[in-house]
Amino acid sequence: MRDSQYEQLKRSIVRLPTIDIDAYKTEQMRRRIEMFIAAHGGGDPVAFQRALGTDKALLAQFRDMLTINVSEFFRDAQQFERLRTDVLSELLERRPALSIWSAACSNGQEPYMLAILLGELGARARILATDFDRSVLPRARAGGPYAAQDLRGVTAARRVRYFVEREGGTYVVDTLRAYIQVTEHNLLSSPYGRDYDLIVCRNVLIYFQAEVKVAILRKFRVALRPGGVLFIGGTEALLGAELEGFRPLGGNFYQRPAEESAGRRVTWRRQPLRPGFGRATSRLGRWSRHSAARWCSACRA
Ligand SMILES: C[S@@+](CC[C@H](N)C(=O)[O-])C[C@H]1O[C@@H](n2cnc3c(N)ncnc32)[C@H](O)[C@@H]1O
Repeated sequence: MRDSQYEQLKRSIVRLPTIDIDAYKTEQMRRRIEMFIAAHGGGDPVAFQRALGTDKALLAQFRDMLTINVSEFFRDAQQFERLRTDVLSELLERRPALSIWSAACSNGQEPYMLAILLGELGARARILATDFDRSVLPRARAGGPYAAQDLRGVTAARRVRYFVEREGGTYVVDTLRAYIQVTEHNLLSSPYGRDYDLIVCRNVLIYFQAEVKVAILRKFRVALRPGGVLFIGGTEALLGAELEGFRPLGGNFYQRPAEESAGRRVTWRRQPLRPGFGRATSRLGRWSRHSAARWCSACRA
């Protein structure tokens, strides 16, 4: 595709609601668009642009492609295990109930993974799950249906405990859904919440232009409590300006330093979980601005 053709196509994409295409890396976006055009008859970008204006189904598929919704349960098992054994246990030592944001959560696999881990730790928590793509939110809210491919990383024991077969496919059990509040949120334009203990934002930062990524990371830092942790994707390591205000904890984890507040400094160490851990009752801090305040009903006991 020629530069002028890409620019022209881009201008028509800009009219699609919620997609600020300039915020995403040009080369990647261009490659994706070229592949999509090739898969849909190929050839002439001008004719494709015309088709987008008249063919609603094509437009919907095109939007789905641009938003890159691929997700899977426990795709990065090692990092999620580290999240469970090190990060969550450490955070729960400071606060018996956690406020968590799963940003760019796609169809919900990520927040439900978090709910599984929190359930296994006997922890109280609420998870705000957001994505800017309205088409993924109903599945995230319903907790399914998920395809066999989404579930390949789930162990047999977890499969039995946390999933049920219903008409249309595999769903998570209702006790997991009770942790989660799903809502629309655009990382580029929506207001960010505050006081999160953990923000999980994986496999989307990689698609943004460098300065956009830095701006998002700054907003994440403010949205975290001092001592709170950001969990990003395996290929999204923070470097240079991106690292500003974060302390690398190893792996895919970065902490907003705790020493900014009078609170106790969080140390990073590996330790076994204590029995009865996380069962104490305490009130959570303010929930995010854009979500309804709601306790996880599974955690009310
Ligand atoms: C590759 S998926 C990652 C899903 C999940 N975080 C994971 O790692 O499995 C990327 C997600 O980012 C979302 N996304 C892309 N741009 C976004 C934006 N500006 N604001 C919010 N979500 C966005 C897409 O809709 C998509 O669901």
